[in-house]
Amino acid sequence: MSWSKERLETVARTRLGGAKLIVVANREPYIHRYRDGEVEWVRPAGGLTAALDPVMQACGGTWVAHGSGDADAEAADAHGRVGVPPDDPRYTLRRLWLDRADEEGYYYGFSNSTLWPLCHQVYQRPVFDLSDWEAYRRVNETFAAAVLQEAEGGPGLVFVQDYHFALLPRLLKAARPDLVVAQFWHIPWPNPETFLVCPWAKELLDGMLGNDLLGFQTQYHCNNFFETVDRALECRFDRDQFTVSRSGHETSVRPFPISVDPGLAKEYLGDDWGRRAVAVRKKYRLADRPLLVGVDRVDYTKGIPERLRAVDRLLELRPELKEKFHFLQIGAPSRTHLPAYRDLADEVQGLAEKVNWRHGTDRWKPVVFLNEHHTPGDVTVLYRMATGCVVSSLHDGMNLVAKEFVAARDDDRGVLVLSRFTGASKELPDAVLVNPFDADDLANGLHLALTMPAEEQERRMRRMRAQVEDNNIFRWAGTLLSEVGKRVPEPAVPAPPPAAADEAEPPAGRTERTERMIAIENYMTAMRLAGG
Ligand code: F6P
Repeated sequence: MSWSKERLETVARTRLGGAKLIVVANREPYIHRYRDGEVEWVRPAGGLTAALDPVMQACGGTWVAHGSGDADAEAADAHGRVGVPPDDPRYTLRRLWLDRADEEGYYYGFSNSTLWPLCHQVYQRPVFDLSDWEAYRRVNETFAAAVLQEAEGGPGLVFVQDYHFALLPRLLKAARPDLVVAQFWHIPWPNPETFLVCPWAKELLDGMLGNDLLGFQTQYHCNNFFETVDRALECRFDRDQFTVSRSGHETSVRPFPISVDPGLAKEYLGDDWGRRAVAVRKKYRLADRPLLVGVDRVDYTKGIPERLRAVDRLLELRPELKEKFHFLQIGAPSRTHLPAYRDLADEVQGLAEKVNWRHGTDRWKPVVFLNEHHTPGDVTVLYRMATGCVVSSLHDGMNLVAKEFVAARDDDRGVLVLSRFTGASKELPDAVLVNPFDADDLANGLHLALTMPAEEQERRMRRMRAQVEDNNIFRWAGTLLSEVGKRVPEPAVPAPPPAAADEAEPPAGRTERTERMIAIENYMTAMRLAGG
């Protein structure tokens, strides 16, 4: 039976037994910012928020996230709450604020300079810094306090996202053992040899084993996690059921390949995508040449330099392709506070110029590099007008660009050139699968994309579309919530309605800081009682 928004709504109503759904993710789905003195809202780049927003729109509930926009506080109420989507509110976004030192240590430091390179294994050495680790712990506690506030007064299901919050599940369970807690780890989980070099590996693993359910993108990542825990901690393992028990608490570990809402492409294209495509061709002087596109955050895991080197190699190997195509790369700026990311943006810019200088002519530049954010609508037009889309990640948990491209091709045309080292390649074998570390292999993939006969494109694209249509984001969320929903206790009395914003206001004199301290103290007491 297929999964739709409506079926997910039914699961949320019937399987969660009145428990409030609270999603925790570092990144907020909507950012408010000032532009020319006015407040506007934008959607951030990145697959996680794009994938989870339709789920929250279907299920309702609260999304707890770091408020990162300069107008976020102005757009929210005194408790950081704002209804979203801003133009048609369906659920609550609860923003919390981090000071510079915590943002630096927790987000830029431990999350993105330690765990990100550690889990992706792309030869970027992870940084192990005690003060980053301390900030990471502190911010996980801050989020725990906010979640506990949001969950007050009734049963709750907390759905934690990603590597920013490895410690959060244990903190929540210690403070509120009745909460059902699930976590989805969006990025790869490496083998034990790689992960266990982290000086705080045991604490991270113990934190994650506070979950009732822990999801990864692939079975391979689940196996790696199992082996890592086996080497590091005293636990009981059930290898048939894929559960780990620690101190009497059982965690199920399962693969749930994440996906997209395929229906969004139609919405983003609208009736006038053809006119918008003509405008893009004019703006970037593409004439009517075939177009290969890449759409990524500028991140060293995505293999963007490798892609440009492959364009260079292709033109070297096949000079007859000069003036015959363009490669357009969207590179959304990301984590630019970190030198590795700034340097990468410079490297990509330099490579684009080099390829254009080597192969370009007076009237033709092979590469167009746009180092700026684009709306989902603009990106979808590019997918629809392209001859091919190139995803050349060096290592990627899933990669939703691959699935978005497929979802946009209602004409059954277009070629997906896809790295073998993405989770998506396991589901989309009809893509042209390439090794991005091998410039010739990637160059051949680009060549195939430019020359594949229409019938073969259609044959492959139909199968990929059926796969994305069926294994969509509603299946991902529906199967995950159904699985974890089994643990939600039946409500003895009907669940209370969610507290209105002013009812939930802290008593006079209590600041958010003291609220946090109270929640954490409760947690410490619970830990003591549990003999932890
Ligand atoms: O999947 C990993 C991830 O951290 C997601 O949370 C998000 O989609 C993407 O990378 C963007 O990262 P950031 O939130 O750091 O901009």
